[in-house]
Order: sequence, then C-alpha cells, then structure tokens
Amino acid sequence: MTGDPLHTRLCEEYGCEVPVVAFAHTRDVIVAVTNAGGIGILGAAGQETETLRASIRWIKERVGNKPWGVDLLVPASFVEGNKEDLEAMIPQGHRDFVDSMMKENGIPMPATKRAGVGLGPELLRHSREQLDLLLEEEVPIFASGLGSPAFFLERAHAQGMKVWGLVGLPRQARRQIEAGVDCVIAQGYDSGGHSGTIGTFTLVPEVVQMAEGTNTLVLAGGGISTGRQLAASIAMGADGIWTGTIWLATHESETEMFIKQRLIEAQAEDAIQSRATSGKPIRQLRSKWSDAWKAPGAPDPLPMPLQPMLVSDIQEGIRQAKMEDWMTTPAGQSVVGIHSIRPAAEVVYSLVEGAQDMFDRMSGAPAGA
Ligand SMILES: Cc1cc2nc3c(=O)[nH]c(=O)nc-3n(C[C@H](O)[C@H](O)[C@H](O)COP(=O)(O)O)c2cc1C
Repeated sequence: MTGDPLHTRLCEEYGCEVPVVAFAHTRDVIVAVTNAGGIGILGAAGQETETLRASIRWIKERVGNKPWGVDLLVPASFVEGNKEDLEAMIPQGHRDFVDSMMKENGIPMPATKRAGVGLGPELLRHSREQLDLLLEEEVPIFASGLGSPAFFLERAHAQGMKVWGLVGLPRQARRQIEAGVDCVIAQGYDSGGHSGTIGTFTLVPEVVQMAEGTNTLVLAGGGISTGRQLAASIAMGADGIWTGTIWLATHESETEMFIKQRLIEAQAEDAIQSRATSGKPIRQLRSKWSDAWKAPGAPDPLPMPLQPMLVSDIQEGIRQAKMEDWMTTPAGQSVVGIHSIRPAAEVVYSLVEGAQDMFDRMSGAPAGA
C-alpha cells in the first residue's frame, strides 16, 4: 500500500483506481462503475446463456482491459433431483396456502412462464454451464454469491481468471482462504440479497485476520452506502468494499421507477429478511409478499429450490399484473443512504470523496483539502 489509504492491494493487483466494487444486474451500471475507476460485477444467476454471452461481449467492448466480472450462484445446500421428484416433495399445505393467497388477493396466473431458469431446480446445473461460458469469453473475475467456488479455482487460474467468494460466516471464509480463493467478500447481516446472521462490523475484522499473510484479499460488504463506511472498511483492514443496494437507484439501473422511489423513501428497518422467495433469507424491502409469509398461520418457507418452484407462478403473476404493493427488490440496510437517483459514476466519486474527507479529518487536515 502507498501513502494513500484508498490505494489498497485491490487497486495494486487488479488495476482499478479506487477500492469500490459494485454488484448489479444492469450491464450499464457495470460499465459506468468500471469506467469510473471501480470494479463492476454483473449478477447473472439463472440468466439465459446467450443473453449472458451478449452482455459479456457488450461490456468488454466498453471497458477494454479494466477489471470487471460476473457473479453466479452455486449453492452448497441445494435439494437436487429431477423436476417431478422435487414437485412431489412440496407439501399440499404449502400449495393450498399459495392458491388461497392468489384467490384472496386477485393475483392472476401469469400469461407466460418466467424466462431463464431463475432460482429453480435447474440453477445448479445451469450455473456450471455458465462457468464454461465465462472461461470461453475470458471474463476477468468470477464471483460466487452462494457456495464455495474452490472447485473452480484450477480451471480459472489456468487462464488467469480471478475467483472470488461471498461468505457470511467465519468458517466459510476459513475454508475459502485455505483453498486459495483470490478474494473473499465478508458480507454482513445488513446486506441486501441472501444474507446471514453476523453484522458487517463483526464479520469483516475476523475475516481480515484470517486472511493475514495469505494471498487472499478481503472486501467488506453489507450495509455500505457512504464514504465514511468506505473509510471504516479500510480501517478494519479490508482491501475495499462490495456494494449492491446503492446501484439500484442509479440512472443506469433498470430497476423500475416506483421501486427506485421506494428505495429513496425507505429507512434501514424497511429492509427485512424473508425466506419466501428463494428458501434462504433474502434481505429485501418489506412488501405485502413478505408480510403474507410472516402472517399467523403461514407455513414455513421450504428449502431451495422447492420454495422457488412453489412461488414461481405467483411471483410472475404479480410481476405481470404489476401489483406494486406485492412487488419488492432485494435491498440492504444501506437503503438508508439513498436520497436521490444519480449517475453511477457520481456514486463512485461521492463514496471516494467522503472516505478521503474522513481520512483527512483523522489525520488533522482540513476536510476537502
Ligand atoms: C437487488 C439485489 C440482488 C442481489 N442478487 C445477488 C446475486 O444474485 N448474487 C450475489 O452474489 N449477491 C446478490 N446480492 C447481494 C450483493 O452481492 C451484495 O452482497 C449486497 O448487496 C451487499 O449489501 P448492500 O446491498 O447493503 O450493499 C444482491 C443484492 C441486491 C441489492
């Protein structure tokens, strides 16, 4: 590390200008963040292979040799089997609950099925196919959002691809560091999307300590939306930050406008955890959907992929009928830091400037000097 605390090992090893990593599903956000000096990681779990191939080529044309990557889900705990056997494992009581939710609330069956494999029974097989595509298209970074990516290290490293893994528990971090994963993302309880039980402020320093003396970098993730938190992450020993929610409300994001508006209005306590969509806890904006699954008498959500199979039609029906009160988005407690819709590059610059100001203040220099 040089004298600049924001010039971390991530910047040294990956050639980015600032230690800000953005997870987003919109490829325009990835390009904007990467070209602003950070690293964009495209969320592509369950996406159709040809759509992903087109996005990879589109991004490559626009970012050149700058660092960027693709995130997929390769869950470790996943009920495997053929579709019919899995269907038979869904209890009738759960089906009745979903049917009555549709009837009582006027939720229609979708006119067409959801595109792509989503989080359903094909997810694991499909993710393995997508990994072949990442190799073929020479994507610089692969990040695994669920499940250890250790099985993929040899193939990836053979062609210079970096492999990153998200972890929510110290024991997951230890296993990935020991396996030689290039970067672990210590993702706290506060984070949007699939999230665990340990807060970012507790998890990050523990994982940093584990990674000391190894080649594995550590990013802090979960609940981060300000420059102060970027500075705090560096102070905890992280090599950078991994962020998701703040990119949803950018100009470039394809998130629907009413959801962007809701993100602006939301407080941290509106980002609640629910297992109703994937079977694993997803932190998301509270909605009629999450409330219905927490109401007295509601059944406990099923494990992945049974729950996504159970709710695929109702969720697609809600989406196609645009029932806004029932629609939601994964979002972290970081939602509290969203106050307006801004260009993604501006979000990168404000994180960095905010952190720089904090470091200046800590060293006694006037803010903004
Ligand atoms: C809308 C949304 C979708 C997400 N989907 C995924 C995903 O598919 N794969 C993944 O690894 N993480 C996913 N995440 C989690 C992010 O990678 C990241 O860990 C998280 O957003 C960090 O917390 P923050 O939202 O408070 O910044 C998602 C997050 C959001 C907000």
